[in-house]
Amino acid sequence: MTTAAPEPKANMGQPIPRYDAVAKVTGKADYAADVPLVRPAYAFLITSAIAKGRVTAMELEEARKVRGVLDIITHENAEKLKDAKLFNDGGYVSTTNQPLKSADIAEEGQIVGVVLAESYEAAREAAHRVRVTYDARLPTTTLDSPGTTSAPAKGQVSRHEDPHVGNFDKAFATSEVQFEATYETPPQHHNPMELFATSCVWNGDRLTIYEPSQYVHGLKHGVAEQLGIEADKVRVVNSYVGGAFGSKGSMTPRTAIIASLARRLGRPVKLVATRDQGFNIATYRAETRHSIRIGANSNGKLAALSHEGWELSSRADPYAVSGTKTTTRLYDCPNVESHVAIVRADRNTPGFMRSPPEVPYMFALESAMDEVAHLLRMDPIEFRRLNDTMKEPIGGKTYTSRSLMACYDEGSKAFGWAARRSEPGSMADGDWLIGYGCATTCYPTQMAPAAARVRLQRDGRTRVEIAGHEIGNGAYTVIAQAAAERLGVPVEQVSVFIGDSDLPPAPVAGGSNSTASTCSAVMMVCDQIRQRLFKAVMPRESVVDKAKETVGLGQTPVTQAAKSDAPVDREKAFDALGVGVVEEYGEWKPEGAPLDSFRAMHKGQMRMVGGPEFKSGIAYAFGAEFVEVRVNRWTREIRVPRLLGAFAAGRIMNPRTARSQLMGGLIWGMSAALHEATEMDERYARYVNDNLADYLVPVNADTPSVEVILLSEQDDQVNPAGIKGLGELGNVGTNAAVCNALFHATGQRIRQLPVRLEKLEV
Ligand code: MOS
Repeated sequence: MTTAAPEPKANMGQPIPRYDAVAKVTGKADYAADVPLVRPAYAFLITSAIAKGRVTAMELEEARKVRGVLDIITHENAEKLKDAKLFNDGGYVSTTNQPLKSADIAEEGQIVGVVLAESYEAAREAAHRVRVTYDARLPTTTLDSPGTTSAPAKGQVSRHEDPHVGNFDKAFATSEVQFEATYETPPQHHNPMELFATSCVWNGDRLTIYEPSQYVHGLKHGVAEQLGIEADKVRVVNSYVGGAFGSKGSMTPRTAIIASLARRLGRPVKLVATRDQGFNIATYRAETRHSIRIGANSNGKLAALSHEGWELSSRADPYAVSGTKTTTRLYDCPNVESHVAIVRADRNTPGFMRSPPEVPYMFALESAMDEVAHLLRMDPIEFRRLNDTMKEPIGGKTYTSRSLMACYDEGSKAFGWAARRSEPGSMADGDWLIGYGCATTCYPTQMAPAAARVRLQRDGRTRVEIAGHEIGNGAYTVIAQAAAERLGVPVEQVSVFIGDSDLPPAPVAGGSNSTASTCSAVMMVCDQIRQRLFKAVMPRESVVDKAKETVGLGQTPVTQAAKSDAPVDREKAFDALGVGVVEEYGEWKPEGAPLDSFRAMHKGQMRMVGGPEFKSGIAYAFGAEFVEVRVNRWTREIRVPRLLGAFAAGRIMNPRTARSQLMGGLIWGMSAALHEATEMDERYARYVNDNLADYLVPVNADTPSVEVILLSEQDDQVNPAGIKGLGELGNVGTNAAVCNALFHATGQRIRQLPVRLEKLEV
């Protein structure tokens, strides 16, 4: 075993290399824009230079003169597409502001036209020659800009509640230690390497779309709805997605536009939006503000907690990530109140971005916890231990499993936390001040209905079909492992087909639900195959009995009907059945899923369950994150020599891919704390650093040491596979851990991200 492939502990699968590793490193993996098309036309978007107002004229003459231009579409001649419901309301789209419907402009960078040409270069040249004139109004940019409107998220955002219990005001007023602070996080953009591409090909009345998507079934149904055609006529294909982080989860306006243009032109149309256009035509993480109040007794017990949040959204849509459902339930506290408000400005609609609610909300809570520990003169880990709980305070539900303190214990040992001197500014190495910080990380265990088809041949070769998504998460790999382990065949014999809406529907690859949902469905269908094989060679009654036994993945030879039985010989069973291939299809849904779950699944609509709303319990994955920072005494340069996280997330399908996910999360979280922000020109409500040169992301030199510790954890409640999901767990706590370490190094508490050196005082 190597660092990259940690030795599996109990309830972990093998750290096999990625299923798609060779395809990716040899360039054989086909990303959406790589798929060759016959005689395509190339599209280039014309986007608005103002954030608010109207288009008064578009002069197209100079553009039409460019050789190879086929057509130019504006609001005056575009097909009027049908409205679709917001993804967050159980629909499909990322925004209800569908461009090209009228001359109105509601956000900077809104699509105001599309050029189609014989080449990308011609389309681009022509697009730049289009003269657009506007009637521009003064836009409202951000939280404190004049012209915002603010209203409670409750009632505007589906399923948003403001969790509360006890009497906060009274408890806070009588607390021995009272703490109050405001925290802020900036707007951020996902910036996946792969751009927002869409190719649309019509074959008669059938449409095929090649687009990187975290939800092919959602996109299929959304496009059909907007074009007013039957969903059966639409197919979405993407075998690989080159990064997404939430930006490719819901349907953006471009797709139906390109589909409509391809139909009108009678040729395939290919769009690869530019990096800067991607900042506006897709979603982003909006800026947030948090007011935290904590009351504690001098012995360190929490008495009162209040979390108020403000999130920015567009004029068109009330989007909020609403993280108080997590922060109000994390620690034992009898008096809790919370409130989230949405602040509207002239911006594009935000959306989910890796660890949507927890990243900004846990930054606030976990920074505040560190501050209160300092006021109490307590070790921040011991402060959390004192307030750890197996019962969340709001509804009194019990965690299905919670290894938070075990993560702190293993993590702190490996990190060397014991060497930390508690006084801020008390550790140094020459000119470098040293700070150790930690924070809790957590993410709700979420699941959604999924269907799968599995075919097993007599010789063991297996084909798994499920419309999951490879977004770098390791989906191919863990799905292959689930089938191999369940059917007792070598993983090399399993072929996996995902990323195609013609396959059985699976949920969005978001909310860290993919592995739990897809592996649960695949396992269930493999069990249907096992049943058929067992029935062929065993007395009927014993099969029915044995079928009720839960056979833990990877713990039992999977060709056995039950732990006590001798293995069933696959070839003999096939011969007894008299067939060469056994194929099964099945639909799995998590316990507690709403009644209309399967119907919604077949319409590409999400019905996610889990987290605080999980059956009678509450389901979360946990971790403890540790950061060492070094701050130069004279220049205030900030370095992060070490990141370490210890995590527990139920069944780990593959310690290699799990480590990779968590490591990426730790690095991203560190970067979000120190580098990352979308800068805005407040005069124009415009994103300024809309490119990968100015939008800072970390490089290897920024992250010399990143250590991931996976704890063994068994959770039999969450789903049959015992999987909690960990795609978003890694970056949740890191923002706070970095700031807590910076406080420890310098004695300065920075409550606005990102912390750049100009924010530290010399
Ligand atoms: Mo993730 S932000 O739910 O793709």
